[in-house]
Amino acid sequence: MDIDKLIQQYNQETDISKKISILREVINTCDYYYYTKDESLISDRLYDQLFLELIKLEQENPHLITPDSPTQRVSGEPLKEFANVSHKKPMLSLSNTYTFEEIKDFHKRVLELLEGEEVQFFVELKFDGVAISIHYLNSVYSLAVTRGNGYVGDDVTLNVKTIRNLPLKVNDVYIEGTLLKDFEVRGEVFMNFSDFERINEEKATLGEKTYANPRNLASGTLKLLDPQQVSKRPLRLVVYYLDTENVKLSRQSQCIEIMKKLGLPVSPHSRLCKDLNEVFEFIHYWEHKRFTLPFQIDGIVIKVDRLDQQERLGMIARSPRWAIAYKYEPEKAETILKDIKLQVGRTGIVTPVAELEPVFLAGTTVSRATLHNADYIEQLDIRIGDTVIVEKAGEVIPKVSSVVLSKRPTWAVKFQFPDVCGCDLKGKLVRYPGEVAYFCTHPECPSQLVRRIEHFVSRNAMDIEGMGEKIINQLVSLGYLKNIASIYELKRFRNELIELERWGEKKVDNLLSSIEKSKNRPLHRLIFGLGIRFIGEGAAKILANHFKSLDRLMNAKKEELLSIYEIGEKMAQSVVDFFSNPKEIDIIEKLRNFGLFFEERETDTIENKFLAGLTFVLTGELQRFTRSEAKSLIERYGGKVASSVSKKTNYLVVGENPGTKLQNAKELGVNIIDEDKFIKLLKLEKSSNSFDKKSFEDKTLFD
Ligand code: IVH
Repeated sequence: MDIDKLIQQYNQETDISKKISILREVINTCDYYYYTKDESLISDRLYDQLFLELIKLEQENPHLITPDSPTQRVSGEPLKEFANVSHKKPMLSLSNTYTFEEIKDFHKRVLELLEGEEVQFFVELKFDGVAISIHYLNSVYSLAVTRGNGYVGDDVTLNVKTIRNLPLKVNDVYIEGTLLKDFEVRGEVFMNFSDFERINEEKATLGEKTYANPRNLASGTLKLLDPQQVSKRPLRLVVYYLDTENVKLSRQSQCIEIMKKLGLPVSPHSRLCKDLNEVFEFIHYWEHKRFTLPFQIDGIVIKVDRLDQQERLGMIARSPRWAIAYKYEPEKAETILKDIKLQVGRTGIVTPVAELEPVFLAGTTVSRATLHNADYIEQLDIRIGDTVIVEKAGEVIPKVSSVVLSKRPTWAVKFQFPDVCGCDLKGKLVRYPGEVAYFCTHPECPSQLVRRIEHFVSRNAMDIEGMGEKIINQLVSLGYLKNIASIYELKRFRNELIELERWGEKKVDNLLSSIEKSKNRPLHRLIFGLGIRFIGEGAAKILANHFKSLDRLMNAKKEELLSIYEIGEKMAQSVVDFFSNPKEIDIIEKLRNFGLFFEERETDTIENKFLAGLTFVLTGELQRFTRSEAKSLIERYGGKVASSVSKKTNYLVVGENPGTKLQNAKELGVNIIDEDKFIKLLKLEKSSNSFDKKSFEDKTLFD
């Protein structure tokens, strides 16, 4: 592409419509080279000048504006909410493997099912971002939908349109004489580490909440309702899937080539492997090389290359049989433990935190890591001054995993767990029988209060924008915030707040308006936000669903709580204890008076109905549920249970000694799933193979 020639053509052209079209081509080409190939074709200054010219020409000739013009990337007014869109084909997830043995098993299964046919594998990086489905109509970008529950997602077309490496119009590509112009691609929206760190730093300076990792930031950005705001956050796109009814596609490797020719951003780091050894080589290669990438990957994806073989292999539950993910060992680094500080959580739990010599680990600089509890420090004999190994697995905060004893200095100091909390009130630290953790027992401990408020305002709870750690600290120490309810009283102090350091009229008004908005949050978010020990997001939804009102939950007896399938002993006791505390009741009454919603509304439950539109049939004896328990769980999440298998059945759940329904389902090609898969589908557990209430409780322990 000779960009200079195009610019020359543009200068010589006199017809406005042609001028506009050349300018668009120049800008699109520069964008493609800049954002996809990391090359600058022209100087930034010339680029900006041409862009401004395009804006000017379009303003003067509004009838010539088209939706695929680069000036239209940021368009539309802020939305009230996203519309729901059904996926043409469900968006699946991948089963994970962690060892080469498991990959060999996958390979064996594939060969068996394909009855010994030759199989090639296409291996790709597994991008740690947010899955997206994008549609082109007549070669022009037309729709973008999030994965949602795999069947129905959110229409985020305007937000995705702001992504600079997304072509708004694709190149002409002919396959066997047919122009490919109507198609769907799928891929990942992500953010580079450097952009993530910059945005987090900006947020921290403003005293706002920061994001835990680039994926959360990318996902939070896609969910913003205002495309203007989205355009300020440099999201990126990579695509790895193509589907069309126009032309016949035969291989994954071919799809990648086609998408590249269309001008879509595909990863340059994929490889076609003729056997398993080549797959292993690829995995070995990226094991270390991954740290040089400017973005996070969370493994490798191995796909059967031939699409006809993929189709024959089909899927089980929500994962294809033709692809698998391989996850790398947690990322590790060596550094020095400078000190151990205590951090008080919202329930008073005291966690020792390692202060580290900053070290670069898996794309970010780490200077703090968790040490879990006093026993952990004791068992690993971790001492201040030690050289330690820090690990980071996915989104989990880094942890100190071991000590390099050979590097221990003679002066290394054993850590003594103090008797009192580090806050000004110096609450006594106690360890309850059977618990590993220490707790601060002071009812007014300000550190606890800060954490509690942080939790209450967090994104998945009441989602109050503009209330980060620094601001909460400031408002707690100045006495404006005494408990979570006093957040709603802040408006009385508007004038005083405006005068505070680092504040001002606009910032205060923005905060007050997001506080007001939060009054409208659904019941389950309020329950989660209260910060009841062991009640994480999942449990809060279950409680809201069951009791439908906070008053009913408050008055619930332990037996009733225990009768709910997913609620175990620890959770039930914790709920009862929480609502027997007069201080909590006092706060809740204040929240009621401020007008928060204490009842579940019809619209609140939609996000929980992830089985909506799916019909299940049950056969055989299930080990962990009675029939009626299984039925009520399916119905709770919006699914239907039918008594016999038909073409409309989406899943047959098979227990021990299944009946004739199994045969019927096989004949009709219905998805057949066992109890473990059923549990996974219900999202009752995420990683282990079995479900029990205990693991469900533990999962919520650190929420
Ligand atoms: S293929 C059925 N390829 O990983 C196969 N997925 O756990 C569906 N992902 O939801 C996707 N990089 O969001 C595929 N190269 C890649 C991927 C990839 C990241 C994500 C994707 C998917 C999730 C599955």
